[in-house]
Amino acid sequence: MMYPDGMPTATQDAPDYTAEVARRTAHVFKNARNAITEQEWPHLAADIDSILRLKAARNAVVLAHNYQTRDIYHCISDITGDSLALARAATEVEADVIIVCGVHFMAETAKILNPEKTVLIPDPEAGCSLAESITAADVRALKAQHPGIPVVTYVNTSAAVKAESDACCTSANAQKVVEAMSASWGIDKAILIPDEFLAKNVAAETHVEIITFPGRCEVHERFTLDQVRRVRQAHPIAAIIAHPECPPEVVSEADFSGSTQGMADYIKTKKPEEAVLITECSMSSNLAAEYPDTNFVRSCHLCPHMQKITLEKVSNSLLTMGHEVTIDPDIADRARASIQAMLDIV
Ligand code: 13P
Ligand code: SF4
Repeated sequence: MMYPDGMPTATQDAPDYTAEVARRTAHVFKNARNAITEQEWPHLAADIDSILRLKAARNAVVLAHNYQTRDIYHCISDITGDSLALARAATEVEADVIIVCGVHFMAETAKILNPEKTVLIPDPEAGCSLAESITAADVRALKAQHPGIPVVTYVNTSAAVKAESDACCTSANAQKVVEAMSASWGIDKAILIPDEFLAKNVAAETHVEIITFPGRCEVHERFTLDQVRRVRQAHPIAAIIAHPECPPEVVSEADFSGSTQGMADYIKTKKPEEAVLITECSMSSNLAAEYPDTNFVRSCHLCPHMQKITLEKVSNSLLTMGHEVTIDPDIADRARASIQAMLDIV
């Protein structure tokens, strides 16, 4: 059933979906038609309506990672992207409030780069197994063990870990940062932490000797070579694209490996008829809506941390101005220097 203006009508189990809400959110539904179905819309529109009004009232901007669910990614975000794109965007935001739909380290990065702004995360429990795998004390111990070797730290870490590092990197630029740091330190070695697989995948592509740490992404470590081979057999024409947090044997079996934005760019430029993204599930759903000419074969796992961010929590966050991200100023200053070292290189 549709309202006369082409919007789905209220259903009994979506009582907040009034004609007024339908009218105010019509432009969003129109833009998200490939991502959200008519059946889903009545259940989402009231939260989306309240978020849009609160965003305007608070002068807030929503940064959303590529792994966010379709409703957040397509209906309420102002800027979407990979960790690097979100960090860059955070340096340019003019709004008073930044609300990060992603995991905690992403919100911390936004705060580090924008200390004078209010940065909110809708669920502070949205963590990351990589960020939790390493502490500042671990980095100090590594530096003592390998003096004179630059420490390059993946952004998927806490501010305290970044503060102990010489430069940050993301999956989009890890090799470039490692090579630039090793060249500027005049030593053919670098410590790349905490993701062991990312470090090994970079090591396979560079002349720089890489010292690793045993951190893992709980989502990407689950993909196996056997799975990829089976997918290849079942879908011989599909482009297989793997995130560099996957095990090295998975990455070397793939046709392309890149950050989540690198994956999106691959689909945009190569326009494969069929694609398999060896990464978090929501990514395929978001890209399927943007690139309807590519058939996305779903072979993926969900990140339980990314999934903690919901429309309802975003709405509550803007209403109560909770959960504000705060960082000790000394740690933030030192972490900013590491992030800036990366931004100066890429
Ligand atoms: P990207 O920087 O590639 O978006 O990766 C972030 C992440 O958490 C992947 O698991
Ligand atoms: Fe962290 Fe992995 Fe989730 Fe990315 S997918 S946020 S690396 S746990």
